[in-house]
Amino acid sequence: MSEFPKDFLWGGAVAANQCEGAYNEDGKGLDIQDVLPHGLMSEPTDEPTPDNLKLKGIDFYHRYKEDIRLFAEMGFKVFRLSIAWSRIFPNGDEEKPNEKGLQFYDDVFDECLKYGIQPLVTISHYETPLHLAKAYHGWSNRKLIDFYLHYCKVIFDRYKNKVKLWITFNEINSILHAPFMSGAIDLPKEQLTNQELYQAIHHELVASARAVKLCHEMIPDAKIGCMILGVTVYPLSPRPNDIIAKMLYDRGSYLFSDVQARGYYPSYTKRLFEEKGVQLQIEPQDIEDLKHTVDFISLSYYSSNCISADPTAGEPTKSNMTRDLKRNPYNEASEWGWQIDPQGLRYTLNKLYDRYQKPLFIVENGLGAKDVLVEDGKGSYTVEDDYRIEYMKQHLLQAEEAIKDGVELMGYTSWGCIDLISCSTAEISKRYGFVYVDLNSDGSGTLNRYRKKSFNWYRDVISTNGESLHDTKKTCK
Ligand code: BG6
Repeated sequence: MSEFPKDFLWGGAVAANQCEGAYNEDGKGLDIQDVLPHGLMSEPTDEPTPDNLKLKGIDFYHRYKEDIRLFAEMGFKVFRLSIAWSRIFPNGDEEKPNEKGLQFYDDVFDECLKYGIQPLVTISHYETPLHLAKAYHGWSNRKLIDFYLHYCKVIFDRYKNKVKLWITFNEINSILHAPFMSGAIDLPKEQLTNQELYQAIHHELVASARAVKLCHEMIPDAKIGCMILGVTVYPLSPRPNDIIAKMLYDRGSYLFSDVQARGYYPSYTKRLFEEKGVQLQIEPQDIEDLKHTVDFISLSYYSSNCISADPTAGEPTKSNMTRDLKRNPYNEASEWGWQIDPQGLRYTLNKLYDRYQKPLFIVENGLGAKDVLVEDGKGSYTVEDDYRIEYMKQHLLQAEEAIKDGVELMGYTSWGCIDLISCSTAEISKRYGFVYVDLNSDGSGTLNRYRKKSFNWYRDVISTNGESLHDTKKTCK
């Protein structure tokens, strides 16, 4: 018998900047993704160039009906997507929103609701309007709180009858390693001081708490959560130094979820800030507002890594998302060096639930892999992605173990349910989807959509509420 609750929210997830395309249509302004030619770790260019822009999506902007129909065919209960802030406020600091941008998301939400799919909306997913980075240095400036809140007010008001699940910031803790992409702070990393970085973090945390308050006031029947990048680490060895290194690393991320789930800065931040030379500028109202805590905690989980107090110990991991972390000799890695560890998901869910006793939501998980399109024998094409099925099956079984452990898990939205552009490397060849998109790395391709083998597999998982995960004989057709 499946342990997944009856109302478990099965679905998939995307972000506007990775799937919509149409970067300058219908009044959309530029956002920070438009100047990141090679993804997360690349240096921003001064201005967008045609080269940067050619791989900025899979044309979801024009094909959302076809895509949502495919999600409905898989039986999605929920579809996580982000609103591109710069479609609503092209520069981010305007008073009046862009009606065409608002209308686009009305149409997308209507299409979801037509099939009984609930939208789960990320308010800010690495796509801050570029103007806010250039004119204000992003979240290091306190004014961003008001711009963000104004944007929240407009979208809460507009979509209050259509969207009942919200996330304030995607992977809010990623600002620690990607201050430009995550925090729109347009300073080279070496020039960014700890003071500026943690002040920016404080501004985001206050903005998130105020968004929670506003959402509760404006849409009382909605739920709003935070989202953290679940960088799970193990000590590289049982040496006490490595255990302490893990503890300190964990606190780097816990800081974000502690404040958002508990409503105040935890006591360990006193020493953390002292050692980093940080003196936060906190206004009295901030302390009050931080008390508005989230309804649920959502997370991304792809892999785990090891950490050591000794920088020369072990082998560094190959993933460009996890600098300074170590390879776990017991785990395999994906083609991009992301170490595969399904049990790490059970561990992470338990760790978070033990700490907060708030519902959890896995809003990103999946395997980025190079897929090969083959004829399906029925006049169309498919991908025999058994590797993806295996990855997801093992992770879902561990999520189920966590439920048995007592974790309250609201749902699971696999990342990139349709192939999209990679965030860390801006490639299309790193595919996650159940649906293959015919797009090549030079921007060519028909953009036609094809169901992969995992499409039917996931449809069966959803229709049996997870029971088919235990079916060893069943093959997907
Ligand atoms: C998460 C991001 O960090 O990882 C997504 O929220 C991203 O935007 C996902 O796409 C997978 O990373 P990548 O680099 O493989 O696209």
